[in-house]
Amino acid sequence: MKLFDVYNQWNIEPVKGLGCKLWDNNGDEYLDLYGGHAVISIGHAHPDYVAALTQQLGQIGFYSNAVLSSLRDTLSEKLGEVSGYPAYSLFLCNSGAEANENAMKLASFHTNKRKIMAFKGAFHGRTSGAVAVTDNPKIRAPFNQTNNVTIVPLNDLSVVEQELQSGDYAGVIIEGIQGVAGIVMPSDAFLKSLRALCTQYGAILILDEIQSGYGRTGKFFAHQYADIEPDVITVAKGMGNGFPIGGVLISPTIAAQKGMLGTTFGANHLACVAAITVLEVIKKQNLVQQAKILGEFVFESLKNASAIKELRGRGLMVGIELKPECANLRADLLSKHRIFVGSSGANVIRLLPPLTITKAELQKVIDVIR
Ligand SMILES: Cc1ncc(COP(=O)(O)O)c(C=O)c1O
Repeated sequence: MKLFDVYNQWNIEPVKGLGCKLWDNNGDEYLDLYGGHAVISIGHAHPDYVAALTQQLGQIGFYSNAVLSSLRDTLSEKLGEVSGYPAYSLFLCNSGAEANENAMKLASFHTNKRKIMAFKGAFHGRTSGAVAVTDNPKIRAPFNQTNNVTIVPLNDLSVVEQELQSGDYAGVIIEGIQGVAGIVMPSDAFLKSLRALCTQYGAILILDEIQSGYGRTGKFFAHQYADIEPDVITVAKGMGNGFPIGGVLISPTIAAQKGMLGTTFGANHLACVAAITVLEVIKKQNLVQQAKILGEFVFESLKNASAIKELRGRGLMVGIELKPECANLRADLLSKHRIFVGSSGANVIRLLPPLTITKAELQKVIDVIR
């Protein structure tokens, strides 16, 4: 058997990582400003993370949700505290798409309605419901139903209100900052008004913070810049620093009923320990504040770079739209400078480094781009 060939891959095999550095199987060193797509939040092989997971593995790695686990309780308490949502409840699962599926089901259960609104350029995952609210028909199969989904332009309140007025919507799902689209921001004013409209028309506001959350933007969640509280928030990626885990943060206004959601692997012991350690490191190393400071440094340093058409984002979630004649920069960063970065289409580079990146490491990338 061979692998099902669905990925465009770089011809590199990283076999070791430490902090923001990677080494391939030839011993060549790389600087990682991609983090495997915003996943590595506290750096590769963080000593606290390695120790905690190793210790837990020797004790008990898995048991299902049929039994109690104080690790799950610890994780919910810590996430409530660090995120600023202590009164919310947490449902744990295994990935971002799964978190969004559960969030949309919750909205539908709660309102007894079936329609969901999503936005142009959105990416919410590849499972049935998540791909139906993802604005990319190429990754949607005929089986994936879109008849309950309306995709509307981002930052256009009048269209949103026109739709919500029908009273048919269970929920609205929106990314804190659109990642896959190339770091595209809903304005703070738009988010504020969206919050108000959802309340007015009885729709659940779901904030997908899977890429933009966990401190990356300089606040724990990107939507906190708009000073709003969504009804439901989804997380994954940086939550486990590479150990698969996703979560749904749920407002106390939404009631749980036994059996309404569930999962076999979700909330397993190893995943919980990984996620607890990530939160402890974020707190101990002040990584949210650090992302803000380092982000300001990046934006200031790159603002006049001649290769750049537009610079977007917040904190360490940086979108660099290149002038068309400089579009080979991403390939050059990898092949000539051994720097991993993300991309979006031909012209946009995404910087999504571990939040533990140093100023000196960022300077190296800035120098190359400049
Ligand atoms: C904003 C957003 N939501 C959801 C997902 C899906 O997450 P996963 O790949 O863990 O299913 C992604 C993945 O890139 C994402 O960026």
